[in-house]
Amino acid sequence: MSIVYLSGEYLPADEAKVPVNDRGFLFADGIYEVTPAYRGRLFRWDQHCARMARGLGSLRIDFDPASLKAVKEGLLERNGLTGAPVSYVYVQVTRGVAPRTHAFPDPPVAPTVYGFANQYIRPSMERWSQGYDAITIPDQRWARADIKAIALLPNALAQQAAVDAGVTDTIFVRDGIALEGSHANLFAVFDGVLTTAPRSNYILHGVTREFIIELAGGLGIPVEERSFTLDEFYAADEAFLSGTTTEVRPSVKVDGRTIGDGKVGPVSRSLFESFLATTGGS
Ligand code: PDD
Repeated sequence: MSIVYLSGEYLPADEAKVPVNDRGFLFADGIYEVTPAYRGRLFRWDQHCARMARGLGSLRIDFDPASLKAVKEGLLERNGLTGAPVSYVYVQVTRGVAPRTHAFPDPPVAPTVYGFANQYIRPSMERWSQGYDAITIPDQRWARADIKAIALLPNALAQQAAVDAGVTDTIFVRDGIALEGSHANLFAVFDGVLTTAPRSNYILHGVTREFIIELAGGLGIPVEERSFTLDEFYAADEAFLSGTTTEVRPSVKVDGRTIGDGKVGPVSRSLFESFLATTGGS
């Protein structure tokens, strides 16, 4: 039985109970973060914490996420994950428990904090090297995809569309622009240039995205942060998704069309190798 964290307590998952009037339950009124840990060490917590602070600020939830570092470490410890090659630690903060009215409770109530940790089993290099299929879907999310809100219904529907289509990933397209995956950022390679949508309100500003851009810099791979259309994307030489729970996942077929030569390309491969070397994975 996994041990979770709920508002100040560590307890078995089946004993953790949230009141029905929690605004996370009623309105999806909250912010979450998923931070990777390699051999029990949180990776880029400062960046995850800063994004969470921005999200909480946007929602005007008065909570300092800095205290969650110890919670995340406590979850790794209590779930025996300090030696695991890769784990993920999830935390969410909701506005708290109050009778249902759309406006914020006045006076404010204490936020609800919930967290859990899981081990992640990375696919074998053999599987990874085959690449993955994706489909695209119209992006019907709200115009603040940069806020890591727990309101993920469009993302869940998008991922289910991938399951229904028998593929691994879904890519959101808005006004003809290929933006990002249902839970990952999107990269394409055009004539050797690693390209990804610019940071805007239409994508999540991924911590892994920044990491990949840095790795590309170290490898001498040119990077351009610019929008590209779906038609351009279909004609890319390589494509991959990046994220905490995705790492670097190459897409070799999108909407049934082959990307590049249909094989995982050299840029994706060298970035993933660099990713593994930097995080201590293999
Ligand atoms: N998702 N874009 C979206 C829509 C995401 O939900 C995520 C992460 C990312 C990648 O962000 P990062 O590199 O910081 O993990 C991009 C998390 C992992 C999730 O929903 O489980």
